[in-house]
Amino acid sequence: MPPDEPTESPQRHPRAATPSLAQLSLRVNGTAHALELDTRTTLLDALREALQLTGTKKGCDHGQCGACTVLVEGRRIYSCLTLAVMHDGEEVTTIEGLGSAEAPHPMQAAFVKHDGYQCGYCTPGQICSAVAVLAEIEAGIPSHVSEDLDAPRRTNEEIRERMSGNICRCGAYANILDAINDVAERAA
Ligand code: FES
Ligand code: FES
Repeated sequence: MPPDEPTESPQRHPRAATPSLAQLSLRVNGTAHALELDTRTTLLDALREALQLTGTKKGCDHGQCGACTVLVEGRRIYSCLTLAVMHDGEEVTTIEGLGSAEAPHPMQAAFVKHDGYQCGYCTPGQICSAVAVLAEIEAGIPSHVSEDLDAPRRTNEEIRERMSGNICRCGAYANILDAINDVAERAA
């Protein structure tokens, strides 16, 4: 039997512990930011830690809950599952960029009106996702449960499926659905 391989200590690979930095620019909520980040930084951590935009929440950090959903180039994305350097030069919209307390986005106002939350932790991700869901239906992008792939419709079943990547531990799903339908009907 050959002797066991010696355990390698970190000291033998000093470069492994040295972060690799990258310069990038992100346009977040209409403002350009020049950043220097460890290349391993997720978009979520860049938003929360580097830009102090803490409206975007870290729930699982593993792509399982949707709390970190933001819009990148108009499409919703889990910001915990993507690296900031992958979005150099791109436009990011977070919950702070959709609206404010004084001038809320229609989806934010509808969530308040329909009580689409309890603790609120999932809510920024829910709202970003809901805004994108209506845009996806408008653009004719089918969902997994669309009966007609050429003409997806705004049915409750479709909205539930499209929103299924956003988990709410408080179980506010019925009210979230009402809020999304309210916004869609007002826009029709
Ligand atoms: Fe990103 Fe849960 S924090 S999916
Ligand atoms: Fe509490 Fe959704 S409102 S997790």
